[in-house]
Amino acid sequence: MSESFYVTTPIYYVNDVPHIGHAYTTIAADVAARYHRLCGHQTHFLTGTDEHGQKVMRAAEERGLDPRAWCDRIVPDWVALWKRLGISNDDFIRTTDERHETRAQAFWQELFERGDVYLGRYEGPYCVACEDFYKAKDLVDGACPIHGRPVETLSEENYFFRLSKYSDWLLGDYYARTPAPVAPAARLNEVASAVRLGLEDISFSRTSFSWGIPLPWDSKHVMYVWLEALLNYVTAIDYPDGEAFRTLWPGVNLIGKDILRQHAITWPAMCHAAGIEPPALVFAHGWLLVGGEKMSKCNLTGIHPDELVAVFGVDAVRYYFMRDIAFGQDGSFSWESLLARYNSELANGLGNLASRVLAMIASSFDGRVPDPGGHAGEAERGLEETAARAVDAYSDAMGRFAVHEALEAVDSVVRRANGYLVETSPWKLKDPPERGRLGAVLWSAAETLRIVALHLAPFMPEACARLWESLGVPEPLGAQRLPDAARWGGLAPGAATRRGAPLFPRVEP
Ligand code: ME8
Ligand code: MG
Repeated sequence: MSESFYVTTPIYYVNDVPHIGHAYTTIAADVAARYHRLCGHQTHFLTGTDEHGQKVMRAAEERGLDPRAWCDRIVPDWVALWKRLGISNDDFIRTTDERHETRAQAFWQELFERGDVYLGRYEGPYCVACEDFYKAKDLVDGACPIHGRPVETLSEENYFFRLSKYSDWLLGDYYARTPAPVAPAARLNEVASAVRLGLEDISFSRTSFSWGIPLPWDSKHVMYVWLEALLNYVTAIDYPDGEAFRTLWPGVNLIGKDILRQHAITWPAMCHAAGIEPPALVFAHGWLLVGGEKMSKCNLTGIHPDELVAVFGVDAVRYYFMRDIAFGQDGSFSWESLLARYNSELANGLGNLASRVLAMIASSFDGRVPDPGGHAGEAERGLEETAARAVDAYSDAMGRFAVHEALEAVDSVVRRANGYLVETSPWKLKDPPERGRLGAVLWSAAETLRIVALHLAPFMPEACARLWESLGVPEPLGAQRLPDAARWGGLAPGAATRRGAPLFPRVEP
């Protein structure tokens, strides 16, 4: 049986349209899913929307709509954006789906029957933007530390989940597992320290409004939106007894660090309490900052991905975010750095390499991939070694979600190949008597392009499919499997290449 890979994004609140922060996570998950498909793994990629709770309810009220009508109106905008960004999710879950509601109830019923739920009273600060409870000591000048907005005070009868009971299991078992179930390492340390400071039981139902899923045993209460939303990762794959759940769970939950605690403390504890495996990995990436602050819907600092796509195209936008920010750390978005990287690495780097090589094959070999024959020498072996080293670095990096390192490895091959062309100067080789040598140089450069297209495909699916076709490889890119397809020598002489429009036309400042 092939290895399985199940990756999820957070399900996003539909209080507004998406910005590039949401696109960032979703693109990263898409890259991971496409990479695992390329490796031949049984892959499942889930994203979706978080629709219950006060935040969405108020967004609807502001527009004079009931929450369900508002969600039905806005969700298609999210779905359509993911399509435009080339997101290849296998499923899309809405928390208002019946499949989610009934299975979430089954999950809570299980916790209730296992004795991990009791009735109590909650009093304290609450941030509707986070949909989260705070301690007075965690507020910054009386405001939410994430959104910087005033908190509200809650005082209600709530059911509680016995989270405190699971501290020892989290510290002694879950966090101690190898490979680490929370990454990067700094995030694991962060949650382990928080648990060591002591966990309190957590309020998990609300009675002051009704936009939520009723508790199966007490319908005066709706589920607290966070603990309901987390369940999407298993309700979407038919928890508790579906075939998909059996084969795909436990999966990888990719998130931003703003929601680390819920995913790396509460969620594994809930899974353990309900008698299922906790997530195999919770990977929390950093924040996209604008002017030093977290980009956010609530604070209206969001940039819509379409603004960037209109100028640079989908593939380049996907590439930029994965390349420019060390995955796991915060990073600043700027138009200047996007423009600079686009022009240097895509237009002048990869795009120029492809157009030069294809143009020379067209003019000297009638568009047919030349035969390297016995004419390869030191320079060609150097290029081959550079490519082989990059392929190893790439797969190592991809296994660690270090997508920026994987792209650095590929870019190093593109840079070397452009340097190789300058050094071997095929445009100066006389045809004849140097036709054999010319063939070897152009074949080596084209083979490098084939390997580059293969490895960039998870990041830039459209451009790489075009490049692949232009190299005349008979089997489609989608049918390739790593690691076999990455082996030097795969490009068959004689194949008909095609020159198309430039892959990445230069963009002027
Ligand atoms: O928290 N930089 O939804 P949400 C990087 N519904 N990533 C960002 C970002 C930024 N500036 N802004 C948003 C919720 N994100 C809950 C999740 S999951 C069971 C429930 C991304 O709409 C990042 O992935 O506030 C972050 O974790 C997520 O959007 C929060 O989306
Ligand atoms: Mg948020």
